Amino acid sequence: MCGIVGYVGQRQALDIVVEALRRMEYRGYDSAGVAIADGHGHLTVEKKAGRLENLEKQIAEVGADNLRGTTGMGHTRWATHGQPTDRNAHPHQSLNEKFAVVHNGIIENYAPLRDELENLGVDFASDTDTETAVHLLRREYEEGPHAGDFVASAYATLRRLEGAFTVVFASADHPGTIVAARRSTPLVVGVGDGEMFVASDVTAFIEHTRDAVELGQDEVVVITADSFDITDFDGNPTGGKPFHIDWDLAAAEKGGYDYFMLKEIAEQPEAIANTLLGHLEGGRIVLDEQRLSDQDLRDVDKVFVVACGTAYHAGMIAKYAIEHWTRLPVEVELASEFRYRDPVLDRSTLVVAISQSGETADTLEAVRHAKDQNARVLAICNTNGAQIPRESDAVLYTHAGPEIGVASTKCFLAQIAAAYMVGLALAQAVGTKYPDEVVSEFRALEEIPAVVEEVLEQMEAVRDLARQYAASDTVLFLGRHMGYPVALEGALKLKELAYIHAEGFAAGELKHGPIALIDDGLPVIVVMPSPEGRAVLHSKMISNVREIQARGAKTIIIAEPGDTAAAAVADHLIPIPHTPTLLQPLVSTVPMQVFAATVAQERGYDVDKPRNLAKSVTVE
Ligand code: F6R
Repeated sequence: MCGIVGYVGQRQALDIVVEALRRMEYRGYDSAGVAIADGHGHLTVEKKAGRLENLEKQIAEVGADNLRGTTGMGHTRWATHGQPTDRNAHPHQSLNEKFAVVHNGIIENYAPLRDELENLGVDFASDTDTETAVHLLRREYEEGPHAGDFVASAYATLRRLEGAFTVVFASADHPGTIVAARRSTPLVVGVGDGEMFVASDVTAFIEHTRDAVELGQDEVVVITADSFDITDFDGNPTGGKPFHIDWDLAAAEKGGYDYFMLKEIAEQPEAIANTLLGHLEGGRIVLDEQRLSDQDLRDVDKVFVVACGTAYHAGMIAKYAIEHWTRLPVEVELASEFRYRDPVLDRSTLVVAISQSGETADTLEAVRHAKDQNARVLAICNTNGAQIPRESDAVLYTHAGPEIGVASTKCFLAQIAAAYMVGLALAQAVGTKYPDEVVSEFRALEEIPAVVEEVLEQMEAVRDLARQYAASDTVLFLGRHMGYPVALEGALKLKELAYIHAEGFAAGELKHGPIALIDDGLPVIVVMPSPEGRAVLHSKMISNVREIQARGAKTIIIAEPGDTAAAAVADHLIPIPHTPTLLQPLVSTVPMQVFAATVAQERGYDVDKPRNLAKSVTVE
């Protein structure tokens, strides 16, 4: 995925566009670029591989005075087609430098389009699929049925593009107008006073306006300084969906933390509390845009959870709770595998799609597959109006606020809390829980934010430990029951942030192979179940830890205070307060996040922008 922005107004576009790119850099940081129309027939492009700072240096060298103009666009790239080089950076220009385009997503028919254009003598300057769009636009403008009409030529170009994409077009000879379109990947209009924005994400313009309009699938917007017109690809008015952004610039800024991720870890109590807020009414769980009736929920005889990465781990955790509360079978499936496996789905299957961004291509395709098979789909999502909730039958929003750090933290805990509410809503509908049991489970959940707060206050010891082990080549994570997905998540965080080989295992599986990895001094982080929960889980886990300790592992154990058996087998102990077994992941995850972030910092890595990653992945 990439971040794109367009601006038309009265102010100099350059600063506004560069600032917008800074806020959207989490969406991709392989390259960045801007195009500014000077109002006198020129469109100047500056672009550079690497982080935004490289582009800023280049702009400083050429001089910002050479990029004056009140119409502009920008792009921050996560590479799909073509290496992350200067030549593949966006914006791309037509050969006469009269048109520029930025693009997020994939133009699937770019190969035949490129052949067609090359046969007409067009020389391509990049290896990207994007460049086809700008050459097509120029041809339409010069030779198409609407020659000389920028907007009509842009529509004609858009109708030739296939795939899932968002594009923004600007023209040197038509400053003051920008055409942008959405087919699948996100696009919002920011409605200012005498200025308009288009962007992949509201963070791009939140400091200028909190009034926004979301484009739906297959919609086009034409913006000028004081108008926006939204239509379908054929030009029929559609209107878009206006909304007011209910958070402000401060929420999208670091607020004194070195990294967004550290701020987001600290915001977890609030993220959970806000997600739970308002969902217990008159002793009943209510979900948000619930387009599923109680009867629909009663008809459910099987649940699938589909998601990717961290969201998938939230799904694994949800499975334990939902099955326990509802007695319905729950399968958790990687979204990228789901539709290719031909899963057995029908009208009585509920598919829960978990996605922070709501735009992950694998999860979106899983949703579409489920809908094709007639299943009912409920989305758990943190991004208002994103494609996954739009295409689902119902949505339960997590209210974690913007998550800018590429590695998911507060959204993970909010997803778990939301998935628990789905479990309770199902249990209430199918009658496996009495109303007062639903209420008491919900009340227990409501106590978790304070517990997470308590854990956060004790994280200095974890940071010390992380510094001590920062040079490790491998770290293993062990858990049982609810602790198993937590171990997987701990390993994922360490891999993606610190680039250390890390693996999570179900503790019982160790002796079936992975125990061969245990070597003298190897750090193993263990999630210990509560001794007050199911005694058998706890005692089995203690035996597993003894087995690895006997083989030289250094055991770092996350356990409740007073767990003397755990203390006896721990080289290091990380205490966490007692929580009911089913809710423990909301608490035991936190030290793992802090551990991974500290190791990454210690190794000198950018915690917010791990290499090769992007915040949401809009390609399969
Ligand atoms: C890891 C991480 C990713 C995402 C995954 C799904 O820290 O953030 O694994 O969880 O790419 O993204 P969403 O939730 O946006 O669908």
